[in-house]
Amino acid sequence: MSSLPSQLSQRIESVAGIDPELRPATKPQFGHFQSNVALRLAKQEGAKPRDVAQRIVDQLRLDDLCETPEVAGPGFINFRIRADVLAATVTDQLADPRAGIMTVADPQRVVIDYSSPNVAKQMHVGHLRSTIIGDCFNRVLSALGHQVIAQNHIGDWGRQFGMLIEQVADEGLDLASLDLAGAEELYRRANAHLDADESFAARARERVVKLQSGDPATRQAWQRLIEISLAGFNRTYARMNVKLTDADVAGESSYNPLLAPLADDLERRGIAKVDDGALVVFAQGFDAPAIIRNSAGGYGYDVTDVAAIRYRVDELGARRIIYVTDARQHHHFELAFAVARMAGYLPDDVVAEHVGFGMVLGPGGTPIKTREGGTVTLDSLLDAAEEHAVPEIALAAIKYADLSNSLQKDYVFDAERMTQTTGDTGPYLQYAHSRCAGILREGASRGRHFDHIEVLSEPAEQELALWLTRFGETVQVVADDLTPHKLCTYLFELATKFSTFYEQCPVLKSEDPVCSSRLCLVAATKQVLATGLDLLGIVAPERM
Ligand code: ARG
Repeated sequence: MSSLPSQLSQRIESVAGIDPELRPATKPQFGHFQSNVALRLAKQEGAKPRDVAQRIVDQLRLDDLCETPEVAGPGFINFRIRADVLAATVTDQLADPRAGIMTVADPQRVVIDYSSPNVAKQMHVGHLRSTIIGDCFNRVLSALGHQVIAQNHIGDWGRQFGMLIEQVADEGLDLASLDLAGAEELYRRANAHLDADESFAARARERVVKLQSGDPATRQAWQRLIEISLAGFNRTYARMNVKLTDADVAGESSYNPLLAPLADDLERRGIAKVDDGALVVFAQGFDAPAIIRNSAGGYGYDVTDVAAIRYRVDELGARRIIYVTDARQHHHFELAFAVARMAGYLPDDVVAEHVGFGMVLGPGGTPIKTREGGTVTLDSLLDAAEEHAVPEIALAAIKYADLSNSLQKDYVFDAERMTQTTGDTGPYLQYAHSRCAGILREGASRGRHFDHIEVLSEPAEQELALWLTRFGETVQVVADDLTPHKLCTYLFELATKFSTFYEQCPVLKSEDPVCSSRLCLVAATKQVLATGLDLLGIVAPERM
């Protein structure tokens, strides 16, 4: 069954002939929804808007759904959903384990490329955002019935491994005893060594050649660095309660065997050209070409992403590919998409989109840094939030802060503010959920039963009920536009409407059927909060 507003919309369109562009009413006294359809039609017909509005109202047959619609102001039509219809809709929604989320008619295979940290480096704040946002997309799209394939495109290939492995050999380092933090220190030492010592730099370059040609000892050291890093990443994923596993890892190195054939294909078909010794593709609208193969014969970040697109379309069957990284990589992805389209690796009916996010700022409003000016690790951010709250609340605070603004915006990491249980925070929503749970426990202990909404007469009850019925369509919008902040806003509004309802409408102090009806509203609120929080990757505690 479709949502109440879309049912209403369809019926109006069948009379008016055009989309009524239904909007939520701006004030409760205007009903629940409003349309300016008569104003638009009147313009076309050269008639008076109020007359057109009245004609539409007279033709509409909505008695089973609405009160009699009202013509208002210059020719708006106001609609109020019947209380018994709202009551029945919320009752049905409560019995639905999916809380009114409808599966899509055309499920798609969707690849989401997120998290994607780099080997021998700890995850930093950019990876925090990518992981949280990607996990949310994964949950939302999966909930709608899409088949999501997570791809953790870790940086596990490239020239840096030459210096890393050469440094290990120089130091006689035992890789068995190294952890990710240790690997990162190794990275720093190798880098310093590279800058200081020309002969080391030369050996590092030879080491890259050995790695590429499959020299066993070199491969083994490389493999070990990946294992160490994955173990570190997985510890952080477990701490963050995200769904990524080793099965989702498809690092840069996995595309390595595909690069030479891809370069040949592009060159043979005249898409790529040799320019200054390098093989490049000039795409329309871009200042610089995509580098397919550099003049030294090496393959880099650009071509790896072109190969990844080809693989995701051909082998994984993707109909939509979503990339989650910080906004600064936007140009890189647009170029990779353009090249893949030119080559036919990315057919027109496959959507590729880069969701670039803003930066996390420190208290001074500048990009967050450690006291020493270094990059902040993801774990240290989790630690900072846990100074103010227990882990599951601290995590809710971070995730909500990350998701509740438009993703492109920068936001300030303020551990104290975001862990508060009041205001527009994750913990506030968890608290609202635990409050519903507490009321239901108290009701059960007093032997109160409920199974449907019979009475729904108070404005605060109706407001809450109407809002509850809008959950499913909200999730749909979030999936289409990839805008988690709309789900956050929805849930925050729900918690606010619930608070108003609870202030104005005594639940356990009233008699049945008012009491049982209100308990139903409490239970339906709890269910939508829990389901919505889960889509954000946030747990909903029964007690707080
Ligand atoms: N490893 C990269 C980084 O840390 C992100 C990779 C994003 N995904 C991709 N297919 N390029 O910035």
